[in-house]
Amino acid sequence: MKGLILSGGKGTRLRPLTFTRAKQLIPIANKPNLFYVVENLAEAGITDIGVIISPETGQEIRSALGDGGRWKVRFSFIVQEAPLGLAHAVKTAAAFLGRDPFVMYLGDNLLSGGIRHLVQEYSRGQADSIVLLTPVDNPGQFGVAELDGEGKVVRLMEKPKDPPSNLALVGIYLFSPAVHEVIETLQPSWRGEYEITDAIQGLIDRGLRVSAKQVSGWWKDTGKPEDLLEANRLVLSQIARDIRGELSGSEVAGEVVVEAGARIVRSEVRGPAHIAAGALIEDAYVGPYTSIGRDAKVVRSEIEYSIVLDGTALQNLPRRIDASVIGQGVLVDGRAEGPKQSTLRLVLGDQSQVML
Ligand code: TTP
Repeated sequence: MKGLILSGGKGTRLRPLTFTRAKQLIPIANKPNLFYVVENLAEAGITDIGVIISPETGQEIRSALGDGGRWKVRFSFIVQEAPLGLAHAVKTAAAFLGRDPFVMYLGDNLLSGGIRHLVQEYSRGQADSIVLLTPVDNPGQFGVAELDGEGKVVRLMEKPKDPPSNLALVGIYLFSPAVHEVIETLQPSWRGEYEITDAIQGLIDRGLRVSAKQVSGWWKDTGKPEDLLEANRLVLSQIARDIRGELSGSEVAGEVVVEAGARIVRSEVRGPAHIAAGALIEDAYVGPYTSIGRDAKVVRSEIEYSIVLDGTALQNLPRRIDASVIGQGVLVDGRAEGPKQSTLRLVLGDQSQVML
């Protein structure tokens, strides 16, 4: 079985972070989302992995993944000229996939518990496709599945107005090569994309068996800023305390990772939290569900439930930062200089958001 990771796309909902970075490389607990995906595939014994990349961010994805040696897998990078949909990505990868069955994994998805059980289920040979489902409160915003009494999928709908169930399709799918024949016949949907839901519906319409499994742990699609924070919370809630950096005059409580080379000085850190190598936390408070990136600084400031990327400095802030995602190399300084103490001085990139 081969793997196909979808790591192209535009990532418009994560601007401005995605102006300078592929969304799949945004770190969750200080590790790129994409690395969790590769780990899941490797753990399931899948070593021949195609990676769909876009012309814009492809090089960055290639450099981050390298040759796959660190996971003992092999990558084939496949450029998709335009993000014309998930089924289009499969079509673009047709030569790589050949007649092998494959797992398709969206590069911005995270799944607790991995996919080993799914791959085992597929190898029992009773389905042409296995899809993963999870109950959601707002099925109208997802691909939704209708099942028969035996858990076989009878119908799929993309963002239905009147959802037949609350079971949303998760971004991880197993396919036999029969899917290629269906994709050849697809037309773009109303939003101009070749939809994977249409491809799966095509398998059902041809009488092929599509079975569904419910996610047992949690699943997260990190397409929007609030999803990044929630994914960060979920991953951090599984970490174990590991202090390798330097603590001085500080209180560090609970499940906290402090990497070697990080320093916590006269501060309070309440886990779960992840402080990367080279970071400095000084006269500060870092609260639960926070990740602080490499060489970042939090000085005379308070922060919780947030993600701070590498090399960013937060200092002298008059109020606690909460539920925030702050990009790389950013400076937020609360100390006004000069006579106009009541003014704000801002240098913000396109589509930055500041809530004061
Ligand atoms: P989406 O989140 O649906 O699309 P997007 O990345 O373009 O984001 P936005 O809607 O914010 O602009 O994509 C899910 C995953 O699949 C993501 O990792 C990007 C990838 N993808 C492709 O590789 N090719 C495609 O044609 C599409 C649509 C997505």
